[in-house]
This record gives sequence, C-alpha cells and structure tokens, in this order.
Amino acid sequence: MKPQAIALRHGDERRQAYFAVVEEIELNANEALPQSFLSESELARFGALRFAAKQQGFLLGRLAAKRALGALLAEPDLRRIEIRSGAYGQPLAQHPRSNGLEVTLSHSHGLAVALAYPGEWPMGVDLETVAATSAATLLGDLQMTTAEQAWLAAGAVNEVTACGVLWTAREALGKSMKIGLNCPLGILALGRIEVAGASAWAGLYANFPQSRCLSQALDGRVLSIAMPVEMELGCWPQPG
Ligand SMILES: CC(C)(COP(=O)(O)OP(=O)(O)OC[C@H]1O[C@@H](n2cnc3c(N)ncnc32)[C@H](O)[C@@H]1OP(=O)(O)O)[C@@H](O)C(=O)NCCC(=O)NCCS
Repeated sequence: MKPQAIALRHGDERRQAYFAVVEEIELNANEALPQSFLSESELARFGALRFAAKQQGFLLGRLAAKRALGALLAEPDLRRIEIRSGAYGQPLAQHPRSNGLEVTLSHSHGLAVALAYPGEWPMGVDLETVAATSAATLLGDLQMTTAEQAWLAAGAVNEVTACGVLWTAREALGKSMKIGLNCPLGILALGRIEVAGASAWAGLYANFPQSRCLSQALDGRVLSIAMPVEMELGCWPQPG
C-alpha cells in the first residue's frame, strides 16, 4: 500500500508527514525480500533474530518505517535509509537527507504502521489488537485516572475497545517522549477523553499538557497517535 501523505499544521507552520501500513501478506512480494530493503547492518541484525515472530515483526516494522521515510525523503532505494535503535529502544533514522526527520512505528498481529514526521513536532504511534481475554488484565495494569474510569463506566465504548484506547494512548505518548513504557503507566494516562468521530476519540494527557492523542478503532485493532497539543492533522491515518 502506498504511504499516505498527512498534512501537519501547528499554529501558522505547516509540514508534511507520511503514514505507512504493511500487512504480513506483503512480505511475500519480491520488493519485500529482506535484501531488497534492509541495509547491510540491518540484514546482520535480522540474521541474529532467533524467533520467527521477532523476525516477522522486525521486517514488517522496518518496511513500514522505510516506506514512510522513503516517501518523506523522496528516496526510492529503501536500503539507503537506515533505522537503528537508540539506548531506550527508540528508532533512529539515518539518510543523507534525513536531518531532523524522525519515525515512529508499531506492529501488532501481522500488521505494522509507521509515521515519518519532522522531529521538532514529537509524535508517537501505537497499534494494538486487544482480545476480550486480555482486556480485564490490561485494565488492571493501567492505573486509570478518574476521567478514564468515568469514561469506561459510562459504557459508551465496549470494554475491549476502551482498553485498547487507554493502552495505546499511553504507549504512543511514551514513544513520542522516547521513554516507551519505562515508567509507571498511570503517569501517561489521559485526563480528558471525548468522541472525535465514528470509533474515534481525542484525548488530553493528565500529566503532559503539551501533548494530545487521537485514537481510532478498526477491525479489532486500536491505533493511537500522540502529538503536540496544538497540532492538527489534515486527515486521519488509515490503518487498513
Ligand atoms: C515501547 C514498548 C512498550 C514496545 O511496545 P510494543 O507494544 O511491544 O511494540 P510496538 O510494536 O508497539 O513498538 C515497537 C517499536 O517501538 C519503538 N520503540 C521502542 N522503544 C521506544 C522508545 N523508548 N521510544 C520510542 N519508540 C520506541 C521501536 O521502534 C520498536 O520497534 P523496533 O524495536 O522494531 O524498532 C517497549 O519497547 C518498551 O518501552 N518496553 C519497556 C517497558 C515494557 O516492556 N513494559 C511492558 C508493559 S508495562
């Protein structure tokens, strides 16, 4: 699937981001063979992965991230874009023209999403597939705010989807700040949630007033994007 162009607006300033989605089935295509899009060092990293699930996640995530960056950089040869991991696990994009550009990515059950964006406007994406069996456990781990508990109790959103929204909102913010989930989950919680469309919600973070979150549910998955509070997206990312 071709990366989706997303216009970003922050006050009077405008920039472009690209959102890419890669499905498991796409890995069968010739252009998705590891040697077709991974750099030498990425191939070495891929070769060291022992488990099939890890290998698949790595390929899906790297392909999505490189397609998003490739569109933003106008670079057709994805092997020239390198994505390393920083000390906290955060993705680091390298390319002769990548100055200031960043990428955030997530993979879940055979689907990967990535957003390439200008680094001065920190963003993070998270995609999760939440099952009824895991929702109750996850809800117990979330350290919910009063606002989140009230939203859940109101019952307008089913528990599985709500769990996905609250979890991915935390992870997206953690990624935008490069800390991932290496902190108590309640710190990353939402202080306000409102409907932003069909199966879509907008949230403000309780402890990080500089960031906001957009979440949408689709086909059993939830996608959240954390971004600067004053940022507007020209369109919603389409995860499927
Ligand atoms: C962010 C984190 C939770 C990963 O989330 P996940 O749902 O397992 O995986 P996702 O597919 O959504 O995201 C993985 C990608 O997030 C990115 N990522 C990882 N750590 C990141 C960080 N600190 N900042 C920004 N992005 C990060 C990476 O690009 C990673 O993909 P890659 O390793 O192939 O490059 C994880 O890396 C982390 O912070 N772990 C430490 C704490 C933890 O494990 N908590 C468990 C639950 S409480």
